[in-house]
Amino acid sequence: MAEEELKKGTQFEGKEEYIKDVFTEIADYYDEMNDIMSMGMVQGWHKFMMRKAGDISGKKCLDVGTGTGEIAFHVARTAGPGSTVIGVDITPRMLELAEKKESELDLPVKIDWRVGDALKLDFEDDTFDLVTSGYMLRNVCDILQAVTEMHRVLAPGGKVIVAELSKPKNAIVRFGYNIYMKRVKRMGRKYDKGKSIDGRHSAYEWLTTSIEGFPYGEDMVKVFKRAGFDDAHFYVKSFGAVNIYVGTKK
Ligand SMILES: C[S@@+](CC[C@H](N)C(=O)[O-])C[C@H]1O[C@@H](n2cnc3c(N)ncnc32)[C@H](O)[C@@H]1O
Repeated sequence: MAEEELKKGTQFEGKEEYIKDVFTEIADYYDEMNDIMSMGMVQGWHKFMMRKAGDISGKKCLDVGTGTGEIAFHVARTAGPGSTVIGVDITPRMLELAEKKESELDLPVKIDWRVGDALKLDFEDDTFDLVTSGYMLRNVCDILQAVTEMHRVLAPGGKVIVAELSKPKNAIVRFGYNIYMKRVKRMGRKYDKGKSIDGRHSAYEWLTTSIEGFPYGEDMVKVFKRAGFDDAHFYVKSFGAVNIYVGTKK
């Protein structure tokens, strides 16, 4: 059933509630599973994002769909003292865990965690020097609206840097990737017990299969351009398992 539904696309009625329920359900083992799913590569992707951010010392930064805060922690370390770092997420439980993790870290700046919706960011136009986001776009009800909001809250000259899953183009790599994703789905089942959420797919069924029908690469760059990032481009990481999109607000 899940496969059938996913083939119809990644948008469906009740998606916002479903997504909140998915992340509330998996919050407590999200980090552990993330590390397994990415084969430990996730930290490298986030370091790459920081290199693309350039000099953000003391700047105003926003991480949208911050989850348990991993990207926000990198931003805080890079932006350092005197900077402002805000992490927004729609799922309160993910933010509780982010805050708990933060209390065990020695970051140069206190992160401001806020419950909020990427589709309607509660900030003035032209506020931030950097907006980051990781693996959230697959989960929103309107991708263009989310990227348009990122553009709106960035100050002129500010940068957006977004990481999202993609699919390897090379046939051989893709073959291995498909096998690996099936394995990840099986591992996910150990955590989520295959339990249906809101009468739909189990959490890891969603997270591993929602890449089907989801735009990536040049198709996603078009979305960033439509949102106003004229210079949008992307970097392929880990043989195409992840793309990192970068754009600047004029
Ligand atoms: C796959 S997790 C990624 C978390 C984090 N960025 C990371 O790198 O691990 C996706 C996150 O996006 C959040 N999210 C989904 N839809 C959202 C929305 N409309 N507004 C804000 N956050 C949203 C979820 O609650 C979840 O924490």
